Amino acid sequence: MIVKKNFHDRVIAPSLLAADFSRIGDEVRRAVDAGADWMHLDVMDGHFVDNISFGPGGVRTVDQISGIFLDVHLMISRPDHYLQRFIEAGSDLITVHVEADHDVAETLRRIRGAGRQAGIALNPATPLSTVEPFLDQIDLLLCMTVVPGFGGQAFMPEVLEKISAAVRIRETKNLSFHVEVDGGIDAVTAARCAAVGANVMVAGSSTFRAPDMGAAITAIRNA
Ligand code: DX5
Ligand code: ZN
Repeated sequence: MIVKKNFHDRVIAPSLLAADFSRIGDEVRRAVDAGADWMHLDVMDGHFVDNISFGPGGVRTVDQISGIFLDVHLMISRPDHYLQRFIEAGSDLITVHVEADHDVAETLRRIRGAGRQAGIALNPATPLSTVEPFLDQIDLLLCMTVVPGFGGQAFMPEVLEKISAAVRIRETKNLSFHVEVDGGIDAVTAARCAAVGANVMVAGSSTFRAPDMGAAITAIRNA
């Protein structure tokens, strides 16, 4: 059974994009054994971002390998069109971008209507005001700390201010969504994000490519 986390909990979500895809089953189990709380799955369509990863079939494969909570990040132009397939594939939380071409409120409503958690993501250059109307309809706000599309990029510290502002709004309005950061996260940058109120740390390169994944996850948890 999956224990539901709240925004006071530190959650570590290794990003599968940095795993060795030739042995994906072993990689998922390695992350689980190393202490991962969630598995972060990056879906890219070659339109919304300049890269292509995997679709609902990839999500389903991971779901069949492990019962770990699946945090599915849709970097696709038409999340509304593909939503039902990602729900059926076993996603526990589905995050859609505010910049994508869809009725955001309606997509969020459908995700929750299917009994899944709903997240909204925004790129580093996108102002917080674009997501403000939806903050009472989400379980998670993903503040991208790199321009999405590729793993292994450098953390963008200018996003910290936006995270602080989001946390202030959450307090003022008495809301309860997670704040997730994604891109260039390791123990050092996780500490900076945690200091301004982020609690869900997505980390690809710094976990899957560390010499000791368990130690890397512990370091991010304690940062
Ligand atoms: C970037 C993806 C990230 C990526 C993070 O577009 O959304 O989840 O895998 O990779 P690292 O942690 O290596 O920056
Ligand atoms: Zn991601």
